Amino acid sequence: MLGNKAFKSTLFVGMLTLAGLTLAFQAKADVKFVTTQDGSPLEIKADLFDTPEAKEFLKTGKNPYIGNEEAIKKGKKIFGLYSCTQCHGPDAKGQVGPGLIGPTFRYPKDATNKGMFETIWNGTNGGMGAKGLGLMDPSDPTNGLKPDEVLKVIAWIRSHGGVNGNE
Ligand code: HEC
Repeated sequence: MLGNKAFKSTLFVGMLTLAGLTLAFQAKADVKFVTTQDGSPLEIKADLFDTPEAKEFLKTGKNPYIGNEEAIKKGKKIFGLYSCTQCHGPDAKGQVGPGLIGPTFRYPKDATNKGMFETIWNGTNGGMGAKGLGLMDPSDPTNGLKPDEVLKVIAWIRSHGGVNGNE
């Protein structure tokens, strides 16, 4: 039989343990990515998320670069460098490929930044190749966009329209 005091301290330790576990669980719970092709799990190595902004995205699914002028400028550059312009037009309003600025999308989930990230990272079945690092070019694992770069490209795309993707 526990005395009242012992019972209280046991309860206290129990509550602390529970709080600690809850925190540990929250700290570990990264966003779960899925492919745009069929919604199956999409594994992206956590160590590729190597900037504070990319880490925040991995935790929250929100793109911290939305509205950030410097990131938007870089995103525009990357959009040209990786030939996105050739298919989507220099202002992302569409060319051979569809326009990207919304408000409607071929893949409705692309209205969110998590969804658009998955589409750019791993591609689609309908003519959009994967652009993620190591996926874009099977012959060169160093080729492709890092998560941080994908987020900047998305920030640039979002700077055109009414959709900011973090809603
Ligand atoms: C070779 C042409 C080509 C290139 C290069 C290309 N795309 Fe695409 N993209 C497409 C096509 C075609 C689609 C439509 C795919 C479908 O319907 O499955 C598409 C779809 C998309 C979508 C989904 C749009 C929606 O409405 O849901 C996004 C986002 C996107 N592309 C971003 C990019 C970015 C960013 C780059 C550069 C890193 C890029 N694309 C490079 C051809 C291209």
